Amino acid sequence: MAQLWGGRFTKETDQKVYDFNASISFDQRLYRQDIRGSMAHVRMLARQGILTEEERDRILEGLSSILEDVEKGNLEITAQYEDIHSFVEANLIQRIGEAGKKLHTGRSRNDQVALDMRLYVRDEVKVTDGLLYELLKVLLDIMEKHVDTYMPGFTHLQKAQPVTLAHHVGAYFEMFRRDRERLGDLYRRMNYCPLGAGALAGTTYPLDRDFTAELLGFEGPTRNSMDSVSDRDYAVEYLFALSLIMMHLSRFSEEIILWNSNEYQFLELDDAYSTGSSIMPQKKNPDIAELVRGKTGRVYGDLMGLLTTMKGLPLAYNKDMQEDKEGVFDAIDTVHACLDLFTGMMDTALFHPEAMEASAKRGFTNATDAADYLVNRGVPFRDAHGISGRLVLKCLAKGVALDDLSLEEFREESPVFDEDIYEAISMKNCVDKRLTKGAPGRKAMEEEIRESRDYLEKTGVFA
Ligand code: ARG
Repeated sequence: MAQLWGGRFTKETDQKVYDFNASISFDQRLYRQDIRGSMAHVRMLARQGILTEEERDRILEGLSSILEDVEKGNLEITAQYEDIHSFVEANLIQRIGEAGKKLHTGRSRNDQVALDMRLYVRDEVKVTDGLLYELLKVLLDIMEKHVDTYMPGFTHLQKAQPVTLAHHVGAYFEMFRRDRERLGDLYRRMNYCPLGAGALAGTTYPLDRDFTAELLGFEGPTRNSMDSVSDRDYAVEYLFALSLIMMHLSRFSEEIILWNSNEYQFLELDDAYSTGSSIMPQKKNPDIAELVRGKTGRVYGDLMGLLTTMKGLPLAYNKDMQEDKEGVFDAIDTVHACLDLFTGMMDTALFHPEAMEASAKRGFTNATDAADYLVNRGVPFRDAHGISGRLVLKCLAKGVALDDLSLEEFREESPVFDEDIYEAISMKNCVDKRLTKGAPGRKAMEEEIRESRDYLEKTGVFA
């Protein structure tokens, strides 16, 4: 047991209490952020004349050597310390002696941990953004290749109207693009430095909070000191953004699972991204997509966990807040792995355009276009709807698609039909006539793709 307090205690902490209280087993992953924050703090203290330059330099050297040793694996972070803050400070004192005891001047672990978590989340938001960017690139490549790949668009999971694979994938492009914007929003909102808030009420030392904030790349210091040490909104916001990413990945996974099934055969996942069965030799399972879908629940759980932890907390810091970490770490690890794997899976998937088009035809997705054909020749829409419906009935009885009916059969329902009906209801025509902005028609889709390509080129990876 090595702890930073003890002066007012007359008894040793019970070992079980110590273990229950300790956070080192998980907050050790904050060691870089903790050291970085301490370095900025010490620079500021010396600039304000609270430490001498010599003390500053000794502390900085000590902190650098700890960082280096941990990175190189020469210094192990062990359970003998209560948390990462105690670990770093105790090691510093061991290494440089008296000067090390001055590091914590004008600081509390409350503003220290608030800073560490913010720095950590800020770093990870950028990683999430980079992974989304990679996924968007892969999706856009698929879109570019499949502007003419016709497939059924569904509502109620019933075939509705023909779209293209480019258009369908483009819908997900929009979702992940919004996810990036959401990360950008929360990044801007959280980019303020809580250091200098002290335990809750600031400090009597003449700290320059603007300077520390600047050193750490923040927009500026946070305002109210009580809020600064007890605010975890940014972590909740990040968990929400991560949850929404998972929701999007999960919906997409569900479709990939369906499309990869024997019934659909719209695509085949690469062998490298599929798994087999221990008993059924013929099986090739979409486990990655299923796991991504499954892990969505656990990320939602992390969000609900933190919201619930925070809901009854009086101001300012309470130990409950130590519970912010594991959920956030778990969500980050989970989402980053899911994004990475999902991107690889999509990049290697093999699409089957013929199967998609055949399915669109079999599902009468051009029945609306047959009705529109009549409307364009003066038949009122309500009548045209009925005629087209009866044609579908006829096809169902014969087990054929609309395109397979003879002109006579068309004419039995309406004399308005002519030879050009076949062209009018061809998948190509049905899709390419849909030219409203955002629709699947070739021209509209090419415009959407151009805009998306521009967006990717302009925004680069989040900075
Ligand atoms: N391990 C603690 C946490 O993660 C650090 C802050 C401790 N502060 C305190 N007053 N006990 O929240």
